[in-house]
Amino acid sequence: MTDKKARLALEGKDPIDLPIHSGTLGPDVVDVSPLLANGLFTYDPGFVATAACESRITFIDGDKGVLLHRGYPIEQLAEQSDHLETCYLLLNGELPNARQKAEFAERITRHTMVHDQITTFFKGFRRDAHPMAIMCGVVGALSAFYHDSLDINDPRHRETSAIRLIAKMPTLAAMTYKYSIGQPFMYPRNDLNYAENFLYMMFGTPCEEFKVNPVLARAMDRIFLLHADHEQNASTSTVRLSGSTGANPFACISAGIAALWGPSHGGANEAVLNMLEEIGDVSRIPEFVNRAKDKNDPFRLMGFGHRVYKNFDPRAKVMKQAADEVLSELGLENDPLLKIAKELERIALEDPYFIEKKLYPNVDFYSGIILKAIGIPTSMFTVIFALGRTPGWIAHWNEMISNPYKIGRPRQLYTGPVRRDFQPLDQRS
Ligand code: CMC
Repeated sequence: MTDKKARLALEGKDPIDLPIHSGTLGPDVVDVSPLLANGLFTYDPGFVATAACESRITFIDGDKGVLLHRGYPIEQLAEQSDHLETCYLLLNGELPNARQKAEFAERITRHTMVHDQITTFFKGFRRDAHPMAIMCGVVGALSAFYHDSLDINDPRHRETSAIRLIAKMPTLAAMTYKYSIGQPFMYPRNDLNYAENFLYMMFGTPCEEFKVNPVLARAMDRIFLLHADHEQNASTSTVRLSGSTGANPFACISAGIAALWGPSHGGANEAVLNMLEEIGDVSRIPEFVNRAKDKNDPFRLMGFGHRVYKNFDPRAKVMKQAADEVLSELGLENDPLLKIAKELERIALEDPYFIEKKLYPNVDFYSGIILKAIGIPTSMFTVIFALGRTPGWIAHWNEMISNPYKIGRPRQLYTGPVRRDFQPLDQRS
């Protein structure tokens, strides 16, 4: 907080002084709350210039391509940390020491099983249901099972819910896949780490031993880590808004999953692969690039552009490196879809339209390529994003609940009819 002020001059009225607050990084924010007493609202569709809250978790500088979690650059975390350690960092504010790290991993491991009754929920869904549809339902349903951690005003309840959500998401995600292909659900294995366990529950069967490929497990872990948080994006803001009503954490995360599903947000990784398949051949790329540039065509190049990053997406750099590792491990360097992706990336990075509009490949452009190579079906891609983003959602929810907060209640610029009297049916034309 500073003594700086902005002065708003309004024609025919006294000026209004608005306090300016400074954070540790990033632009100053003008506190517009005094406007209400002067009969004014602010107007900012899409919240492009609005700081909706104060937060200490994640910082992004979109122009410089910087992403920090609790101050640590994402590149360093992706290189030297792992997903569970990053979860700890997001939730607690500091990196764990060796004992804390081991205890946290042990707690997560001990909560990976889901209540057996949850399996009956799955049976109510069609086998061809989109896995995100199932995830919205079953994650929300967790609130019907874990009553002993629903008191949002009790920090220990909040912590237990956080652990449960991070621990159970891989189990539920793998169950949605197993259900879709008609294979039995696999129970989690406590001797495996977080990413290994997910791959085991996805691809193992009760009939034979399943060996987890360590290169793929490391890539999976990086995908989770690179998605772990991204400050006040649409789904995180949804979780905060839902949480501001006092709703329980499982319900709030389910709301976040719903918001993530859209193709402008987490659904983009699935849309990237569908787009690459639709393009089908390198020779057709110019046709699709032209469509993306045509103002009268709603088509967009999926996996390009970002609301905040206008230089490059730092997650995409790490993801690209992980993609190269996975493809070389699996001998897929000549995969036809990958060729299309690489050529598309090259053309878009050289095309003046994309350069001028600062549209760079985002994290989802490369994550889809890795996931496909690992053998994960396209419809599961957004589920994996949700799994990775869970610690971020829960860290933001917990930060909000641990501090004084108000119910989120935006206002509007009303442009509908003015007051008018009701007309009986026989008098309407
Ligand atoms: N292909 C072609 N043109 C684009 C694209 C694209 N992918 N993205 C933006 N544009 C154009 C857009 O038409 C507009 O042009 P004009 O100024 O002439 O009207 C200009 O660039 C600015 O676009 P915008 O929609 O105002 O930008 P935004 O910040 O509201 O949208 C976005 C950001 C991510 C929704 C958008 O870039 C997009 O739809 N990208 C494709 C979907 C995608 O990959 N989403 C994943 C984002 S990363 C994962 C996550 O964080 O969820």
